[in-house]
Amino acid sequence: MHVRIMLLLMLAMSLAACRDTVEVPEKAVFKEDDLTEDNEPLKIGFAMDTLKEERWLKDRKLFQEAIESHGLEVEIRAANGDDALQIAQAEEMIHQGIDLLVIVPHNAEATAAIVHKAHGAGIKVIAYDRLVKNADIDLYVSFDNERVGELQAEEMLKRVPKGNYVYIGGAPTDNNAHLLKKGVFNVLQPAIDRGDIRIIYDQWTADWAPEAAYAHMSEALNINDNQIDAVIAANDATAGGVVKALTDQGLAGTIPVAGQDAELAAVRRIVEGTQTMTVYKPIQNLSERVAALAIHLAQNNEFKPTVSINNGKSEVPSVLLEPIAVTADNLKEVIIADEFHSEEEVYGKE
Ligand code: BGC
Repeated sequence: MHVRIMLLLMLAMSLAACRDTVEVPEKAVFKEDDLTEDNEPLKIGFAMDTLKEERWLKDRKLFQEAIESHGLEVEIRAANGDDALQIAQAEEMIHQGIDLLVIVPHNAEATAAIVHKAHGAGIKVIAYDRLVKNADIDLYVSFDNERVGELQAEEMLKRVPKGNYVYIGGAPTDNNAHLLKKGVFNVLQPAIDRGDIRIIYDQWTADWAPEAAYAHMSEALNINDNQIDAVIAANDATAGGVVKALTDQGLAGTIPVAGQDAELAAVRRIVEGTQTMTVYKPIQNLSERVAALAIHLAQNNEFKPTVSINNGKSEVPSVLLEPIAVTADNLKEVIIADEFHSEEEVYGKE
């Protein structure tokens, strides 16, 4: 049997063997035989939204490394939260002849236009971390965002079983923000129904901006006379805004705050006691899986995970990775052991 066919068969078997999650295929699967007809290596386009939060710099670096480790090329653009620019950048890459498009949508709805354009040119599209709504995307790979919200609320409820809660949501244009909120309320609702906790402030945060989260939290404190017992923020950037507002009132460290992403600043806040928890999402797993699956799909192979998510248009084949709750208690075993941040970065002097 031809080596390439054998390797592809092995890949197909290993993909079929796993259910909701996939193994990253061996590097050997994608070697010199994996060339397009004109003998150019496959080229993958990566249309990112923002590089503002620390995590996206990791996503960019790790995704590039993962694609290049298979001997393929990657084109990367970031749109800085600008829908029109993201569409233009994706169009440009489509015209340049990418073989597959991976997209982190800024706006879940607006990016459907990109999917139509890509499909018109015979290019498959993978949604990376954030779902594209109302379009026939070929695959969605992310962490289980609903679970992220559940992990936040479980930890907070353990610490604050009764009291006044503030919810600082993410960007309403990002489907993840809705999933996170759903997860949080899956866990909080019974306590709300029992009358144990009250949601005294609940607000989305446009573009996940820390300054907006700061303004929301300042408002929440102001209208509730500082009578707040717990704050769940949709990510660490917004948690940073929350902690700043608490600091203004001399309350930082006295009110539990939850975030997600395990950003260095947040992990340091956990060490100093001004943030209670974060949720760690191993970006390396995400970037490597997407890279492997991008190459697999670009070669016109099938991939049918058992999980699918309805995006308003179709049941999107989906792979959801597991997030991990992090507090001061497991920070070393999780974040540092995984080399997400070094011990020196976390505990060392600035
Ligand atoms: C991601 C978060 C990130 C946020 C802001 C969300 O879609 O899942 O990890 O913090 O966007 O960029």
